[in-house]
Amino acid sequence: MSRGQYPNTRMRRNRMQAFSRRLVAENRLSVDDLIWPLFVIEGEQKTEMIDAMPGVARHSIDRLLAQARQAVDLGIPAIAIFPSIDAALKDPVGSLADDGDNLVCRAVQAVKSRYPELGVICDVALDPFTDHGHDGVIHGDQVLNDETVEILCRQAVHQARAGCDIIAPSDMMDGRVAAIRNALDNAGFQNIQIMAYAAKYASSFYGPFRDAVKAGAALGKYGKSTYQMDPANSDEAIHEIALDLAEGADMVIIKPGLPYLDILARAKTEFGVPCVAYQVSGEYAMKCAAFANGWLDRDRTILETMMAFRRAGADAVLTYFAPDIAKLLHQQR
Ligand code: PBG
Repeated sequence: MSRGQYPNTRMRRNRMQAFSRRLVAENRLSVDDLIWPLFVIEGEQKTEMIDAMPGVARHSIDRLLAQARQAVDLGIPAIAIFPSIDAALKDPVGSLADDGDNLVCRAVQAVKSRYPELGVICDVALDPFTDHGHDGVIHGDQVLNDETVEILCRQAVHQARAGCDIIAPSDMMDGRVAAIRNALDNAGFQNIQIMAYAAKYASSFYGPFRDAVKAGAALGKYGKSTYQMDPANSDEAIHEIALDLAEGADMVIIKPGLPYLDILARAKTEFGVPCVAYQVSGEYAMKCAAFANGWLDRDRTILETMMAFRRAGADAVLTYFAPDIAKLLHQQR
């Protein structure tokens, strides 16, 4: 395509007036694209703040309902519920994951019975429930794949039975999407969606989250690098996404968010499927630290980041800023 040259072409003309900037804007933000991750704890009338995530708390189920209410009022389509389990209830095989009456299942039931139209997403992974904090069962320093997948299938069915709309396998075991799809279908849950954490990197940016769900102190020297991806790799992410789609994933997550926009953009252009970015806890923490110091403008930074995800190809974004973004968008109208 031939393009004009200066002085006939002046790129700034289109930018001169607000009306024109609106006309030529290629992307727009909407509350429709937000997923709000929330943390739940046992008890009643309980709220615990999370150190490295200012403004984010763990709530008991009764108070989680108030958060869900806020999501509904703000027009946020879906929340993701993460349990923070008491240490005394964790064991090496994450037994509580395979219990249909566990904290996350009760939280899902409570939210869905009060707000049936709010989408509810649950992770499938063992890390909130294992005393070592790995996403699967271990033998020595190995995280066992097939043994873990069997448990994940049962965990997924419990969550579906509790009313969860979207199952989000975040464990990075091989073959788990197909196995979970099969388990869900056999249990009569053909319409429960799977949002696979397809390209999930072994990232330092998950630190505050592991603190939030109290999992991560005992991961050992390799951390999660035997199952989560090497940050050096990009083609491998494409391979992972292709496999998860072939196994029946309805949507794919690319995680972390901003440092991995290249992966997101590739995923969207190469597959053209619903792609979800996860702006993770460490990204949230960094920004909040800068806001607290007055080094970055909170509102503008949050919106610009969300726009970056949309521009790169995200259809939706998991972000702890979801309510802030929703409020800002409502104000702009
Ligand atoms: C659990 C899980 C993690 C996150 C989402 N699900 C942590 C991990 O894999 O160690 C990270 C979310 C965040 O950092 O905000 N498998």
